[in-house]
Amino acid sequence: MIKGWTKSDWRAKPRIHMPDYPDQASLNAVEAQLAKYPPLVFAGEARKLKKQLALAAEGKAFLLQGGDCAESFAESSADNIRDTFRVMLQMAVVLTYGAKVPVIKVGRMAGQFAKPRSAPTEVIDGVEMPSYKGDIINGFEPTPEARVADPKRMLQAYTQAAASLNLLRAFSTGGFADIHRVHSWTLGFAEHDKAERYRELSNRISDALDFMNAAGINSFTANELSRVDFYTSHEALLLEYEEALSRVDSITGQNIAGSGHMIWIGDRTRQPDGAHVEFCRGVINPIGLKCGPSITAEDLKVLMAKLNPTNEAGRLTLIVRFGVGKVGDHLPRLINAVQTEGANVVWSCDPMHGNTIKSSTGYKTRPFESILREVCEFFAIHKAEGTIPGGVHFEMTGKDVTECTGGLRAVTDEDLSDRYHTACDPRLNASQSLELAFLVAEELTARRDVERRSVP
Ligand code: PEP
Ligand code: CO
Repeated sequence: MIKGWTKSDWRAKPRIHMPDYPDQASLNAVEAQLAKYPPLVFAGEARKLKKQLALAAEGKAFLLQGGDCAESFAESSADNIRDTFRVMLQMAVVLTYGAKVPVIKVGRMAGQFAKPRSAPTEVIDGVEMPSYKGDIINGFEPTPEARVADPKRMLQAYTQAAASLNLLRAFSTGGFADIHRVHSWTLGFAEHDKAERYRELSNRISDALDFMNAAGINSFTANELSRVDFYTSHEALLLEYEEALSRVDSITGQNIAGSGHMIWIGDRTRQPDGAHVEFCRGVINPIGLKCGPSITAEDLKVLMAKLNPTNEAGRLTLIVRFGVGKVGDHLPRLINAVQTEGANVVWSCDPMHGNTIKSSTGYKTRPFESILREVCEFFAIHKAEGTIPGGVHFEMTGKDVTECTGGLRAVTDEDLSDRYHTACDPRLNASQSLELAFLVAEELTARRDVERRSVP
């Protein structure tokens, strides 16, 4: 527990990327209401996730974090949740096979509503208006009225997060019938040379499952596979919401953010003396810290000391997001800072946020090739430094959207307009997500082989 910390201390610190609510009375009423609602997650669950992340730091587990850039009220449906959940489980199976360690599944789901934006206002059709900051803050509709920050949106976000989590909890205990059909997952990859090696891998996974069946281990597998641990996460950007949902764990007296299992601090709001770090340092949840090219080694050291003063394993995940071609410029100096401090961290790779470009057709997009190459650079640097790549962080959906270009079922610049549904950044579609999982599985297999060879 952090001595002397209170959940409101962040209010005295500089805050950025948070809205100015014009209606203070409404804000107060909403905060009071949220403070009475049940928390969405419980301290025991957050502690369990932390234990699993501690294993990822040692290479004994691997973190798969993924989901929407921004969840929206309009796009929320049972189908969307199911599809993203399903693709994440498929990816996890492929990754487990590659890594031969458990895969920790964490959705950017059931709470990923608030967005930092590069500019506070934007001009649409000649009219200047506040930027869209996520459905929990204001409306996507391009009118100055819709863009006014409305505290009541927090109540709707809470309700949607509760409903989503309820469904995810049901899916997590309801089994994953699809597991034995792993070879069918690559059917969508068409007859592409590159797809052949993925098909081989999926056949090997399928064989392993058949073997377990034949050997009579199926009751064990049925049991294991009928229950998965699935966790939720989001950027802790809107601190009024986070504070109102924070609770004191009755068993330990520790503070916990009740809004999701894991929360992270964005690359734009990680000022060591800022409001976001102040809030996050006091809650016991696993914390993610986004690290972009501008983070200095000094800042990282201060942040690690603030966010994890006892150097607890699994507490802190560094989510690095540099952009393709830049990992070699930045990751080694951060690894050096971590090693100098003897800090315990999980290294995770977000290959999305450093690779956003404008397509020739005017859409904000991310080339699959850049995403894939950044992941490879991340693995290569860790191999060279002798450190452990502990996880990956993707913006993705289970739907067949056309937001990122490339992939085996190639999406072109011209295709982007077909099914471009994101409320914020472009996401990998189901096929691109799975393809990436196969690639990461290959990298993980290579890492395991190196470790095996180094065992005397
Ligand atoms: C995000 O994860 O959606 C995000 C805004 O990332 P970052 O803080 O790394 O830019
Ligand atoms: Co994003």
